[in-house]
Amino acid sequence: MPEGWVNVYDAQDQAERRLEPGPRGYFSGGAGDEVTMRENVAAWQGWRLRPRQLTGVEVSSTAATVLGGPVTAPVLVGPVAYQRLLDPAGELAMARAAAAFGTVMCLSTLATARPSEVAAAAPGGRRWFQLYPFSDAGVTRALMGEAVAAGFEAVVLTVDAPPGGNREADVREGFTIPAEIEIPSVSAAFGGSRTVTVGESFDLMTRALTWEDLGGIASEAGVPLIVKGLVTAEDATLAVEHGAAGVVVSNHGGRQLDRTIPTAEALPEMVEAVAGRAAVLIDGGIRRGVDIATALALGADAVLIGRPTAWGLAAAGAAGAERVLRILAAELELALALLGIASPADLGTEHVRSAPLTRVYSG
Ligand SMILES: Cc1cc2nc3c(=O)[nH]c(=O)nc-3n(C[C@H](O)[C@H](O)[C@H](O)COP(=O)(O)O)c2cc1C
Repeated sequence: MPEGWVNVYDAQDQAERRLEPGPRGYFSGGAGDEVTMRENVAAWQGWRLRPRQLTGVEVSSTAATVLGGPVTAPVLVGPVAYQRLLDPAGELAMARAAAAFGTVMCLSTLATARPSEVAAAAPGGRRWFQLYPFSDAGVTRALMGEAVAAGFEAVVLTVDAPPGGNREADVREGFTIPAEIEIPSVSAAFGGSRTVTVGESFDLMTRALTWEDLGGIASEAGVPLIVKGLVTAEDATLAVEHGAAGVVVSNHGGRQLDRTIPTAEALPEMVEAVAGRAAVLIDGGIRRGVDIATALALGADAVLIGRPTAWGLAAAGAAGAERVLRILAAELELALALLGIASPADLGTEHVRSAPLTRVYSG
């Protein structure tokens, strides 16, 4: 029962007991030796907090503003593909969870529900659309167009895939997405004349995108464009120069290039490069409210959650995903109170320092 979960690892335990080995490996696994997947979690633990006392703050609130809109906490639901593998209502249930909590849901291109269905399932919720660019620019345009027409506020362009990473759990289990799992908006973007299978979809995407193409996509989107999958200051600078309204510091949860630097280590250089010209979001390994406090203190505007909300959905449907968000927000609220501050906006670099001597990388 989600009410009994003490932390997000309880959701993970329950989800992993419930899922078959194939989907369990797909949702919980990473690429190669899973060094980056593990270090994403451990690198947050490589920062130490600097609380201040007697600040007179009686009440701390997690409420924040992200891309001009309100959220209960700067904790967003990241894009995760094929959610019907986790729950029969899939992305519709995840959208209800995000709306009930009061945050943005980011819908994957590889979703098992269309943007309009997701909008109808949670009409009061905030939604962004994650875009994978296809070789056929008309398909990319159609995907964006459907989402924007359905009230999605921003396009999140993922640039660290394709190709897919070397996920050995999938190879070992012989796991492929079952044929009955459809990605209906991709099929519709191809004109609805045929069903695009999951296996095909990565092959139909372009690997040839350049920074020069970004401006075109941004102007076609007609809504803010956020670039997801960057971990270097050089790329953060290029994204801003080419019109991005935000970047997501991300290595895809360690599912793409193993031994990419953990996001918690990349964040300071990204914040410095962006220099307030765009929003800075981050994901990867965020499992605790103190991880979120650290990210915000280092200059992130918000964090995205990948696996934990997926585990919540798999373990207990929409109520489980919502419970994961509530656990993280409650932990963040307590962290703010113990740091002596009233609101996420009051967090700054004075509240953190790196801890090189006590750094723990779990093996
Ligand atoms: C099973 C799974 C599927 C994912 N699918 C997508 C996707 O379709 N598009 C995308 O941009 N990122 C995708 N991601 C990456 C997440 O958006 C996010 O970057 C990552 O999971 C964050 O790390 P965390 O899981 O440690 O929180 C996926 C991640 C997982 C675990």
